[in-house]
Amino acid sequence: MIKKNSIKISKLIKYYNFINHNFMYDNKPINRYKNSDKLLKLKKLYSALSNIKNCELKKSATNLVFSDGNPNAKVMLIGEGPGSNEDKEGLPFVGRAGQLLDKMLLSIKLNRRNVYITNVVNYRPPQNRRPTEIEIKRYYPFLVKHIEIINPKILVLLGSTALNAIIGDSEVISKARGKWKKLKIGNCNTDVICSFHPAFLMRQPEQKKYAWVDLKMIKKKLLEFNIKIEKK
Ligand code: URA
Repeated sequence: MIKKNSIKISKLIKYYNFINHNFMYDNKPINRYKNSDKLLKLKKLYSALSNIKNCELKKSATNLVFSDGNPNAKVMLIGEGPGSNEDKEGLPFVGRAGQLLDKMLLSIKLNRRNVYITNVVNYRPPQNRRPTEIEIKRYYPFLVKHIEIINPKILVLLGSTALNAIIGDSEVISKARGKWKKLKIGNCNTDVICSFHPAFLMRQPEQKKYAWVDLKMIKKKLLEFNIKIEKK
């Protein structure tokens, strides 16, 4: 009984996170039409991903890791794939790499209430291995749909898997990082920047200086686009 209730509660928490329940505590008027349209599309995408068939990643995973953050954010970040903490909690970037990502975002006054985060693949690759080319290809149409729905002005690719999934494998991350590209992904026109993955930065802290350069470029772009970042 207790176990059943705690499963219900954890599902409810996930659902509230998914619909970005923060709006409940917000005084601002809500554009219900726009919000509900986006949420409906996200719900459809969520259910398409949860119904994916014959996927080895799904078979070995505990949870679908869909996204975190604000669906109305102008900044979207894409990581590689869930690790074991993410798989347990059903949310992206909640482990040590996620803690570093939160600090990086905070350094330019961003947080999960004003960015949106997802991954190239939505189920945990076993032993935290990199997703295979086949797996990346399989999840790519879902990722494009996800980007189309969020329609970010700024898209941040974290690490080489996200770089390869979106831009292709002609570029290596050390060369591609810190440069803006205007891209059309599906029907979304967006400014894309690539930076190092926080897990890589934990292994190679001397590279953090480059990540800082990229973060400052993102901050500058926010100003250029006149994107207001809400403090709350
Ligand atoms: N690394 C990722 O790429 N994504 C996560 O969600 C967690 C760690």
